Amino acid sequence: MEIKAFEVEEWMNKYEDDAKYNIAETCVESLKIGELLDIASVDREEFFGRLAETRLTYGAIPGSAELRDQITQLYKKKKTIDNILVTNGGIGANFLALFTLVRPGDEVVAVYPTYQQLYSLPESFGAKVRRLRTEPEEGFMPDMNKLRSLVKSNTRAIVINTPNNPTGACFGEKLMKEIAEIADKAGAWVVCDEVYRGLEHEGSYTVPSIADIYEKGVSTSSMSKVYSLAGLRLGWIAADEAFVRECFRHRDYNIISCGMVDDALALIALKNKKKILERNMNILMENKKILTDWVNRTDRISFTVPEAGTTALIRYDHEIESEEFCRRMFEYNGAFVVPGSCFEFEKHFRIGYAPRKEILSEGLNAVSDFLNTL
Ligand SMILES: Cc1ncc(COP(=O)(O)O)c(C=O)c1O
Repeated sequence: MEIKAFEVEEWMNKYEDDAKYNIAETCVESLKIGELLDIASVDREEFFGRLAETRLTYGAIPGSAELRDQITQLYKKKKTIDNILVTNGGIGANFLALFTLVRPGDEVVAVYPTYQQLYSLPESFGAKVRRLRTEPEEGFMPDMNKLRSLVKSNTRAIVINTPNNPTGACFGEKLMKEIAEIADKAGAWVVCDEVYRGLEHEGSYTVPSIADIYEKGVSTSSMSKVYSLAGLRLGWIAADEAFVRECFRHRDYNIISCGMVDDALALIALKNKKKILERNMNILMENKKILTDWVNRTDRISFTVPEAGTTALIRYDHEIESEEFCRRMFEYNGAFVVPGSCFEFEKHFRIGYAPRKEILSEGLNAVSDFLNTL
């Protein structure tokens, strides 16, 4: 199987450990286990005492019923635990959904810039991937006429990601329904990576889940971004029951279970999701202001203000390719961002603006120092 290098992951793997100012991360400042327990008012001693007595079996294979029940509550349309399958992170959910759906010779339509997995993976499974590029001038919204012309009777799936990494754009209900209609006419599925759903900014609209809108809608998500728990490696697929069963059949060849410790911690987090979200929205909104002020006062820099999520694509007006820009900056002062080339979007770089605000401010100052050398 031929597979392209996953550019953003390779970039992160290469540099992040040595970054002095890491403003490339996509999670809202990750929680410590103790912080999670405190937020949830769980007694630490009691929790760790219970953990010590836990026998480490495989646990509940598809994810515990209690956890899956909590996940169903993230969706509006009535779901049961049979609509949910727990996976190894959002990346595992995307993999499994696409692995289950895509066959050699299929056509897949993918909207980009986005997380590369969403188009490189179907390609590696032998699909012909037709891509639709979104543009900053259109607020990174897909052109529906172009989408219509790309979707054919042999289109197996339309793959989208909203709220979007890297642009921070989010699709409202009307647009999602239009996408579902286009898919429905062709008998195609819609796979929507929703790992940032729930992080819609104040004043923006809430992103509906494709699983609430469309029968053949497959929602993938995880604990990583919205709940600041990437270390759990816990995600899920929410979809029609028969499709979830089919995913489970495929998952048997890949993971047995996601681990009982991760399951237990995810359950605590989802039972206390309101409090975690309140913390995270505070971080996000404060940091978004810091980022916006910085963009406004910095010469030859601009952006499309993100409406959701944790990332923004920053455009720079300098004659230098994005990879060289980011590498030279990293070598100059250790400021670490992701080049637009990882998203096939030149003359831009991606900032993740949801770390601790001190890290963001110092990181942006370091980017300014580098810009002054150009
Ligand atoms: C859009 C998108 N999907 C999926 C992932 C994978 O995240 P995880 O596996 O931690 O849920 C990421 C991580 O950056 C992402 O940005």
